This record gives sequence, C-alpha cells and structure tokens, in this order.
Amino acid sequence: MSEHVLVERSGPLQVIRLNRPEKKNAITRAMYLDMKAALEEGDADESVRCHVMLGSPGAFSAGNDLADFLAVATGGEGGQEVYDFLLTLASCRKPLVSGADGIAVGIGTTIHLHCDLTLASPRTVFSTPFVDLGLVPEAASSLLAPMVIGHQRAFALLALGEGLPAQEAKAMGLIHGVVEPAELEGEVFGLADRLAAKPPEALRIARDLIRGPREHVLARIREEAVHFMERLKSEEARSAFMAFMSRK
Ligand code: COA
Repeated sequence: MSEHVLVERSGPLQVIRLNRPEKKNAITRAMYLDMKAALEEGDADESVRCHVMLGSPGAFSAGNDLADFLAVATGGEGGQEVYDFLLTLASCRKPLVSGADGIAVGIGTTIHLHCDLTLASPRTVFSTPFVDLGLVPEAASSLLAPMVIGHQRAFALLALGEGLPAQEAKAMGLIHGVVEPAELEGEVFGLADRLAAKPPEALRIARDLIRGPREHVLARIREEAVHFMERLKSEEARSAFMAFMSRK
C-alpha cells in the first residue's frame, strides 16, 4: 500500500481513505491499485461487513491525477488501473458508505454512484468536467447518473460540466444527506455501523436487488472505457491536460 491510500479496520468496517491532501487527493495509478486491492480483500474477509470511503478535510478527491493522464496522452502507459478499479468497485459484494467534504471532481464524484449511502458537507460541490478536458463520462456515470437524477440534470453535470452543490445533490437523490464537516465522519461511521449490524446475507441480497443487474453497469464501464482511452490520446485532451499542468 502507498501512503496515499490508508486502509484500516474499525470493527466490522473497512475504511479506505484517500490521503494525498497536498494534491487534493488526485488519484494516481498506484492509488487505484491500492483501492482495488482493499475492496477485494474486504469483500473476501468475512469479518468485514461494510466498506467506508473517505477523503481529507476539504477534499474528497480532485479526480484522476492529470499528470498521469498527460503521460498517457503523450504516448506513455496508463489507464488500465482506473479501469480495473472501476470494474472491482462496480462488482463489490458488500455495502459501501462514502463521505465527501469539499472537492469532488471527476471520479471523485462518480465513485459515489457506486456507493449505497453517501454523505457530504455543505461546502461539497460535485463536478465532472470530462467534456471540458476532451474526455467522456466514466464509471458508468453515463448510465447511472441519468437513472438517478434524470437526463437533463445528468447532462448538466456530465456534459455541461456544471458543479452540483451538496444540498442540490441531496434534493435530486444523488446523495443521502448533508452534514457539517466536523460531523461528517462520525455520521458516515454511524450509517456504516448500522448496516454492519444487519443480518449480512439478507443485506447482501437486498443490496443486489436494489442495485439491479451488474452486467449492464459493467458493460457500460467497458463501453465508456473504449472511448475514454481514445479520447485520452486526442489533441483536445492533450492540450487540456497541458493547460492545467502549466497553469501559474
Ligand atoms: N491532478 C494532478 N494534480 C492535481 C489535481 C489533479 N487532478 N488537482 C489538483 N492537483 C494539484 C495541483 O496541481 C496543486 O499542486 P501544486 O501545489 O504542486 O501546484 C495541488 O494539487 C493543489 O491544487 P490547487 O489547484 O492549488 O487547489 P485549488 O483548491 O485552488 O483547486 C481544484 C482545486 C480541484 C479546483 C483544481 O486543483 C482543479 O481543477 N484540479 C483539476 C481537477 C480535474 O480536472 N480533475 C480531473 C477530472 S477527470
């Protein structure tokens, strides 16, 4: 495990915490590998009843590390780790509870579509500037977001790139609740503990029924990934990444 992803056990909870605050928890290739391994290990461990995903005060995540994206755009390797992580996330067998405080960009927003209960602080703004970066939506967000919040609101988020404040996200049903930053983690653990106390087999079946067939979600992740990988190498994306990396 890198120091940028902390994985801890708290009783029946497995806590995955993004820990790269100096870069607003931008997610590197190594961090995707760590998160994927943690989800797989937690799923396989009978003592774990629920996964918890957290970031840092003020930043859940600024999304994929743009230096990593620029490397792919200029002929380097990359892309497989995020894809593998997303397939694992969407295949997860145990409930996921997440908490976001502040920055939640790109995959820092779309991760929560795979969580069963998400809390955010009032200063959280969800945003997915995929198209502005020359990219396309990922994490099956092109399927899940319209299902949850309807086409126009999903389009404003995913294509127009409009930020979605936490209170609005709650009103739309994208997240479960809004709580002050100081109470966020306590409330997240409270929800996760309540889930962990349920009969696990009944909860697993209920979750599978509520989430619906995974195959559609996995298929959409694969479909998006084909476009995403092509777009990463496009001139539109390359110049957007370079503009970010060279900003003053
Ligand atoms: N990839 C790589 N580095 C990132 C990053 C990212 N996605 N997001 C932030 N960082 C880095 C910044 O380059 C900066 O590094 P530095 O201190 O070495 O210069 C550090 O994190 C702090 O970011 P900063 O931009 O100064 O913080 P801010 O609070 O002013 O702005 C954001 C925060 C998230 C609005 C802004 O950083 C941003 O737009 N990031 C890019 C988000 C993005 O497009 N993600 C990809 C989505 S697909």
